[in-house]
Amino acid sequence: MNGIRKVGGVLLVVLGLAMGSSLLQAQSVPGESTFKANCVLCHGVDGKANTPLAKQLNAPDLTSPKVQSQPDALLKQIISEGKNNMPSFKGQLQPDEITQVLSYIRKLGKAKKAGSGK
Ligand code: HEC
Repeated sequence: MNGIRKVGGVLLVVLGLAMGSSLLQAQSVPGESTFKANCVLCHGVDGKANTPLAKQLNAPDLTSPKVQSQPDALLKQIISEGKNNMPSFKGQLQPDEITQVLSYIRKLGKAKKAGSGK
């Protein structure tokens, strides 16, 4: 009887830890949900613009050196004001959300570099 209860308790602790750490992970990339809600349609989940709409609108691969080499201020301005087929987001996103979504784009760019071994 006692033994069974102990095992149950340990399982609960392990479950609690697992849930706690996945919550922490979600918080460490605050721009991710903003990106998934507003940008994937045209730029793709991975930012690489591998969607039919992206090709139609000429949306760039956000992980490419061409985009990643541009300064934060300029990219933030494009997200906020829009550019050609890129819609303006200043009415939908707060400035700090734009900052966060940009840092998520930077993260996607780094992930690509690590993956391709460059
Ligand atoms: C309706 C489709 C569409 C949506 C939605 C969209 N984009 Fe774009 N985005 C584009 C297109 C098209 C361009 C290319 C604009 C140009 O240079 O002509 C672009 C360009 C950009 C650029 C500039 C790249 C560069 O180097 O010039 C950034 C940064 C960017 N988008 C980020 C985002 C973010 C962040 C979101 C979500 C908040 C988003 N986009 C949502 C279509 C879209």
